[in-house]
Amino acid sequence: MQLPGWLQDRWRRWRNAKLLDPLVQRKLSGFWMTRRRAQREAAETFDLVAGFVYSQVLLACHRLGVLAQLREGPLPYSQLLSTLDLPPAAGLTLLRAAAALDLLECDESDAKESIWWLGSKGAALLGNAGALAMIEHHAVLYRDLVDPVALLRSPRGSTELARYWPYATADTPSRSAPEQIRAYTMLMAASQGLVADEILDSYDFSQHRRILDIGGGDGTFLRHVRQRAPQAQLTLFDLPAVAAEAQRRFGGVSGVECVGGDFAHDALPTGADLITLVRILHDHDDELAKSLLHRAAAALAPGGRLIVAEPLAGTPGAVRMGNAYFGLYLWAMGSGRARTVTEITAWMREAGLVDIEERATRIPLQTRLIVARRAN
Ligand SMILES: C[S@@+](CC[C@H](N)C(=O)[O-])C[C@H]1O[C@@H](n2cnc3c(N)ncnc32)[C@H](O)[C@@H]1O
Repeated sequence: MQLPGWLQDRWRRWRNAKLLDPLVQRKLSGFWMTRRRAQREAAETFDLVAGFVYSQVLLACHRLGVLAQLREGPLPYSQLLSTLDLPPAAGLTLLRAAAALDLLECDESDAKESIWWLGSKGAALLGNAGALAMIEHHAVLYRDLVDPVALLRSPRGSTELARYWPYATADTPSRSAPEQIRAYTMLMAASQGLVADEILDSYDFSQHRRILDIGGGDGTFLRHVRQRAPQAQLTLFDLPAVAAEAQRRFGGVSGVECVGGDFAHDALPTGADLITLVRILHDHDDELAKSLLHRAAAALAPGGRLIVAEPLAGTPGAVRMGNAYFGLYLWAMGSGRARTVTEITAWMREAGLVDIEERATRIPLQTRLIVARRAN
């Protein structure tokens, strides 16, 4: 139930005054009715303080191959340690840290006798090539975030992450050279698998004859589409160097065309009865994101559909991902922001689209999906 604004304000003032008082905090954590909640809040607040440490434990495990070593099954401590190339005390510190984060599991009575397993989070991450690629990639982001205040004060786009994603700040992204697009194109391909499955399980692509994927990267998404809609003509549009890489990867298969261009300025291929924008809008500032929606809507065949699929702000159960994670990530990258369903829906309507609806995906944290139709 949403409280009226004035009551909400009074409640916040009262609550914050209480929580600011260490004596009240002590009472809340001691009183039987509030103890459990106080303990939970304390643990969650501690996680905010310690989050970077947890990420670095994960990075160390990934770089040292700890998770991969356990893929086939458990290992005794001495065998696992011997693969790490760390002094024994350091190795044990890392393994215990990873176990505390559910990356590993071990029934440890005596460290030297212990047997180590993948933990539930370790197994889930190891089975997700995209997540592993992002863990390594985050080293770039974290270097930019070492001084977050300096990052927020410096001109947007003067970061290492902005150099990683040159299109975010370049005046003429279509001039990006192959070596400038290689790293991000590979990262996107590695992280595309699960996103593609989410989208293809939530919307029936087989009803379409001509599909255009704008900003389609090296074509990984369209390769998944081909399996579900083998009869459709597929067109990929991306920056010239990326489209050339996609063309090379498709290797001249029939029914697929890769077109190079800049979607901010160049004409988009027309006549598709389905256009997809997968992880595209959030990379761009409002003006370009809106104009891209307008131009995509105009490029559609009458009655055709437009799909926007990407992580969104305000996602229930994953609210931190939108404005906290993507907020800072995209700030460091130099353009774009995560938007809500309401914002994207309003922009689609402004672009003249109708029948706008969100389709449920299994893991909305990975991607959400909004479908709209161009009127006949
Ligand atoms: C975040 S990646 C997403 C790639 C792919 N859709 C996916 O989900 O894996 C954004 C893509 O948009 C392309 N892109 C960015 N700016 C562009 C522009 N102005 N014109 C054409 N493509 C652009 C990039 O080259 C990149 O392939």
